[in-house]
Amino acid sequence: MAIEFQQENHIFTIQTENTTYQMKVDGFGFLLHLYYGRSVTGNMDYLLTYCDRGFSGIPYDAEGDRTYSLDVLPQEYPLAGMGDFRSAALAVRNGDGSLCCDLRYKGHEIKKGKYGLKGLPAVYAEEEEADTLEILLEDPVSGMQVRLLYGVLEKEDIITRSAVIHNGGKEEAVVERAASACLDFVTGEYDLISFYGRHAMERSLQRREIGYGSTSVGSSRGTSSHQHNPAVILAEKNTGEEWGSCYGMMFVYSGSFGCEVQKDQFGQTRIWMGLERDFLHYPLEPGASLVVPETVLCFSDQGFGELSHRFHRCVRNHICRGRYSRQVRPVLLNSWEASYFDFTGETICGLAKEAAELGIDMVVMDDGWFGKRDDDNSGLGDWQVNEEKLGCTLGKLIESVNSLGVSFGIWIEPEMVSEDSDLYRAHPDWALQVPGRKPVLSRNQLVLDFSREEVRNHIFERICRVLDQGNVEYVKWDMNRSITDVYSAETVPGKVAYEYVLGVYDFLEKLTARYPALLIEGCSGGGGRFDAGMLYYTPQIWCSDNTDAADRVRIQYGTSFFYPVSAVGSHVSAVPNHQTGRILSLETRGVVAMAGTFGYELDPGKLDERERAQIKRLNGRYRKYAELIQGGDYYRLSDPFQDAYGAWELVSEDAGQALVSAVMLEIHGNMTVNYVKLKGLKRDALYENMEDGKCYSGAALMEAGLPLPVETGEYRAYQMEFREKGK
Ligand code: GLA
Repeated sequence: MAIEFQQENHIFTIQTENTTYQMKVDGFGFLLHLYYGRSVTGNMDYLLTYCDRGFSGIPYDAEGDRTYSLDVLPQEYPLAGMGDFRSAALAVRNGDGSLCCDLRYKGHEIKKGKYGLKGLPAVYAEEEEADTLEILLEDPVSGMQVRLLYGVLEKEDIITRSAVIHNGGKEEAVVERAASACLDFVTGEYDLISFYGRHAMERSLQRREIGYGSTSVGSSRGTSSHQHNPAVILAEKNTGEEWGSCYGMMFVYSGSFGCEVQKDQFGQTRIWMGLERDFLHYPLEPGASLVVPETVLCFSDQGFGELSHRFHRCVRNHICRGRYSRQVRPVLLNSWEASYFDFTGETICGLAKEAAELGIDMVVMDDGWFGKRDDDNSGLGDWQVNEEKLGCTLGKLIESVNSLGVSFGIWIEPEMVSEDSDLYRAHPDWALQVPGRKPVLSRNQLVLDFSREEVRNHIFERICRVLDQGNVEYVKWDMNRSITDVYSAETVPGKVAYEYVLGVYDFLEKLTARYPALLIEGCSGGGGRFDAGMLYYTPQIWCSDNTDAADRVRIQYGTSFFYPVSAVGSHVSAVPNHQTGRILSLETRGVVAMAGTFGYELDPGKLDERERAQIKRLNGRYRKYAELIQGGDYYRLSDPFQDAYGAWELVSEDAGQALVSAVMLEIHGNMTVNYVKLKGLKRDALYENMEDGKCYSGAALMEAGLPLPVETGEYRAYQMEFREKGK
């Protein structure tokens, strides 16, 4: 068992393969955090220090002991109103208006297997792969109870945390802050690494020093957002790709979130991750509970590279589900950048013919096939096939596509309604809006009230009617605006934003249950909802609406810190690129899209013979490496925000095969030579470059690297396969 409780001194110890996590119930019943980091043995309560700290609050039962204050002690789940003036993990407004919650230890349970969360996605594991610790805390005055949940995947070095807040009292209370995980460090200097961005430029890496005061990232957009990803790293000062200590925190949730790091007066650091910080106001009636979405924790003492490997394995094997989670995905041709709203059934069949000729597996009919939808101003919510536009029924169209040996996929945006739609005209109260006010528009659409079951049921039934018309093998689930006017005609104010996200999950759960063979790709204006919550239902997510390969090198670099290649929707698009106007070679576009699920977003009919031949070769190459790409260990070989090139590598589990990809991002006169150092190889083995037959030792490739060719022209790409000799 990875979890142990020492009865004599009330210490909980969680041991994973390489890490230790320890906490203690102290004499007053407070749950104190002792340690999280590289494996240690013994009790770490010697780290707690007790000094006279003037101006730090003392719990009444400490009887004026000036050396005891929650303002100083490291805690598992710090509370607002208990004399700890640092940022709290939980803030509860009681029925009498007071902001206070005094949680003390009541009991605990240690179980085999990993806990699940009602209505929410969470890490899953086989019974023998995981253990669960549940610690029950209670406020004796208000009756508020919190069940802290710890899931331990020992072999994976993963610890998950969640909290169930239950009102066991007699009066309604309001939850104003709710984190699922909080880490207190009594010592150390840290940097926060977070992933910021904007639409079409998601997940750029920012590294900043944690100074005194607070640093926070989050989203109040109703989605996890393009602007900040709900996954951060707290790193010791000198941590790099292969060395140093770092902690990753990944939120398994797709709505608004908060994450705050604080360095206190004594130089101690606290970080928490949870529900949105600024506007949370969740009412809890007596007997009601709030489940705080899970945070996945991981520690690495071998830098960001190892941290990423652990998160990749966790996402691939313990978050993504269904038949496609570990299976090679089809190569897609998506109609969006090929024809936008301007297509007919013939256009789609034309794309399918091209797909068949070029060796592409599937054609996806993107936005514009339903209701009155020839631009993005109308029609959302009216999920009836526009047979007039297609020139046939959906069933016929799918048959024609399938008869060419090509599979068929379709785009939907279930959470939305256009003002100009039959659905909105019939049910204006099904959209989130504040009575008496004009709603805030975005892309001329409103957000459906997915907190309401009847609204979800209606859309579910309509979408199923569409999917049942033929052999639909893929769905792109889009969500193209941030949520405002968070007010429901039925759901209690304060609960709407959270219940909305649970509604989305409920819908997705039903959809995946009804169509277990369906591959669903998530999307929100590209990567606006790229999070582990969505990955529980959709094993891949369209990474960005920016398909420019040069920008994608950076976007995919930032994405790679937490999310595996198998999750990253990435396509080759036309040139000049529709987002940037940049013209890059097909080789470069292909190499970059191969760091994802691979596909196309263009009209092959507009390409010349030479380009078509090259697409066939790219498809052949992708298929040859598909398993390695989707299942291999991913290594970042450069920092494309700093270096003149972007480079990455995929290595097979036995380290016998490696695929290295590089894209030059800069070119100058009399260009300097760039050396790419490989990673993850066996030092003593001999590796052959499969293109030119040259052999190198693993150590040479890793210590000295390989010179990239010096060639003129911007954004050249290189891809090299190495195989261990004799394998
Ligand atoms: C979003 C998606 C695009 C495309 C359009 C359709 O922007 O990210 O890929 O599907 O919607 O409207």
